[in-house]
Amino acid sequence: MSMLIEEYITLKLTEEDLHSGDLILVNQDNEFKQMGVNLLPVDSLYFEIYGGQPIYISQEINKPLLKLIDAINAKKKFVAVSGYRSEEEQKEIYNNSILENGIEFTQKYIARPRESEHQTGLAIDLGEVVENVDFICPSFPHDGICKNFKDLAEEYGFIMRYKKDKESITKISEEKWHFRYVGIPHAKLINKYNYCLEEYIDFLRKFEYNTNHLKIEEDNLRIEIFYIEMKDKIIEINLSKNKKYHVSGNNIDGFIITLFEDMGMNSYAL
Ligand code: DAL
Ligand code: ZN
Repeated sequence: MSMLIEEYITLKLTEEDLHSGDLILVNQDNEFKQMGVNLLPVDSLYFEIYGGQPIYISQEINKPLLKLIDAINAKKKFVAVSGYRSEEEQKEIYNNSILENGIEFTQKYIARPRESEHQTGLAIDLGEVVENVDFICPSFPHDGICKNFKDLAEEYGFIMRYKKDKESITKISEEKWHFRYVGIPHAKLINKYNYCLEEYIDFLRKFEYNTNHLKIEEDNLRIEIFYIEMKDKIIEINLSKNKKYHVSGNNIDGFIITLFEDMGMNSYAL
């Protein structure tokens, strides 16, 4: 009788890891803490609206973003209005907006410094190409390439982050132009359950490491998702060597692990 012996690797997760990854929740209650963000310019969108200043995003989301743009044939058809912002830049945008637009408007559309997803490099604001692009609220109509982008975004790991029916939770008004990378298959699950990121992060707490995991099958992949609480300064978990894995901190109290098992031939972009 032959037996398949499962080999394991041990992952060590630290405080720093808690504040990094595609699923970190950054909002009024959870400040951005990670210092280093590896950036790349968004080079195939039309971004030269502010004296040719390039827009930067996290290196990690560059590829899925460009694939998505390619899939809808929209190269250079969008204005990349804003990507990564340093804390200083966010502060400047916030303060200038208070002077120009008042506090009420500013609180609706601009996160306070350290509370903005833009500091993670995982968010991008896009707009259609118009003569006078609004830097805070760019035009993102529900038709043409903007609709195509929105409809296909989840396939590439992006969600529309601030929806109208979630304003009471996100504390930000509807932003049709702001997309956040959360990865595959999380973007699809968030849309499927009609959650905002706050709700999704909370929902995943049900799927603890030692209990039942969230299991889905998609495109010949068996995907398993679970949450592990950060109970100590360093936590260790054993994962099967036979599966690809992805780890993200939630920026609050634990980690989300996603395991991918290939069930056959597929072209799934991991
Ligand atoms: N516009 C979003 C909320 C930000 O400033 O991060
Ligand atoms: Zn934005």
